[in-house]
Amino acid sequence: PFSELKFLDGNTIDQLGYGVWKVADADAEVVVGKAIDAGYRHIDTARIYGNEAGVGRAVAASNVPREELFITTKVWNSDQGFEKTMAAADASLQRLGLEYVDLYLIHWLQPKRGTYVDTWKALIQLQKDGKAKSIGVCNFTKEALEELYTETGVRPVINQVETHPYFPQNELRSYEAEHGILHESWSPLGHGGELLSDPVLVDIAKKHDASVAQVVIAWHLAVGNVVIPKSTTDSRIVENFESLNVKLDEEDLAAIATLDRGAEGRISADPATADFE
Ligand code: A2P
Repeated sequence: PFSELKFLDGNTIDQLGYGVWKVADADAEVVVGKAIDAGYRHIDTARIYGNEAGVGRAVAASNVPREELFITTKVWNSDQGFEKTMAAADASLQRLGLEYVDLYLIHWLQPKRGTYVDTWKALIQLQKDGKAKSIGVCNFTKEALEELYTETGVRPVINQVETHPYFPQNELRSYEAEHGILHESWSPLGHGGELLSDPVLVDIAKKHDASVAQVVIAWHLAVGNVVIPKSTTDSRIVENFESLNVKLDEEDLAAIATLDRGAEGRISADPATADFE
């Protein structure tokens, strides 16, 4: 039961992927190997995670043909700007041991840096060069998404942003839906904190004989988000993948919609203001 979504550029992405934020390079080969064995074909890394080489080793060691895998990486803040991004992409490809990535993303908007439009122009070039099959962004506001389009005529295919039931990003998601931009959830499990013991979710989990994490992942899938839960625990890598079998009903979705805490629900930095190296 595998769900694919279509990008504006015609390419497709598996809705459920495996994220490797905070996974050490030395561990990445093993856990990504386990994720591939569990059934994941979509792996999400980034230059700043420091584990592109480990991800690349797992890809090389797997028996899955390259074209069946979907690999995402991201340009880091200090590499923003046209020339630096072009070089950063080559360096990422080299560490990954790949000729192309399936998706290359701008990691943060970094509004004060003022280089995101030039960075986006580099991504457009990288797609033309065949080094990135598809291009998108992370942590962009709807204003900045619109600006990329007015400046270049090319919309990102996806925006990867903090999203979970306490912070569902409804306003941003409706803008994206209007323009065919997919929404991708990072920290989909709310970093594995309070969310995973929320009484509303615990009840829904009991009803479906599922874990709370599976209910949360099933919610992301049901509302149309691409979702990349991270786990380095063998049993959870499998458990999270099996969320594909959990089908929430209208009543469940309505109950989860009540958990929205607005801006209070945000765990991490606000992309509209976040500026860091
Ligand atoms: P671990 O890697 O030790 O399994 P997020 O993706 O929202 O940042 O959440 C990741 C956190 O959630 C990690 O600490 C991870 O722990 C934990 N986690 C991942 N999957 C599950 C699960 N199925 N049940 C409970 N915690 C999980």
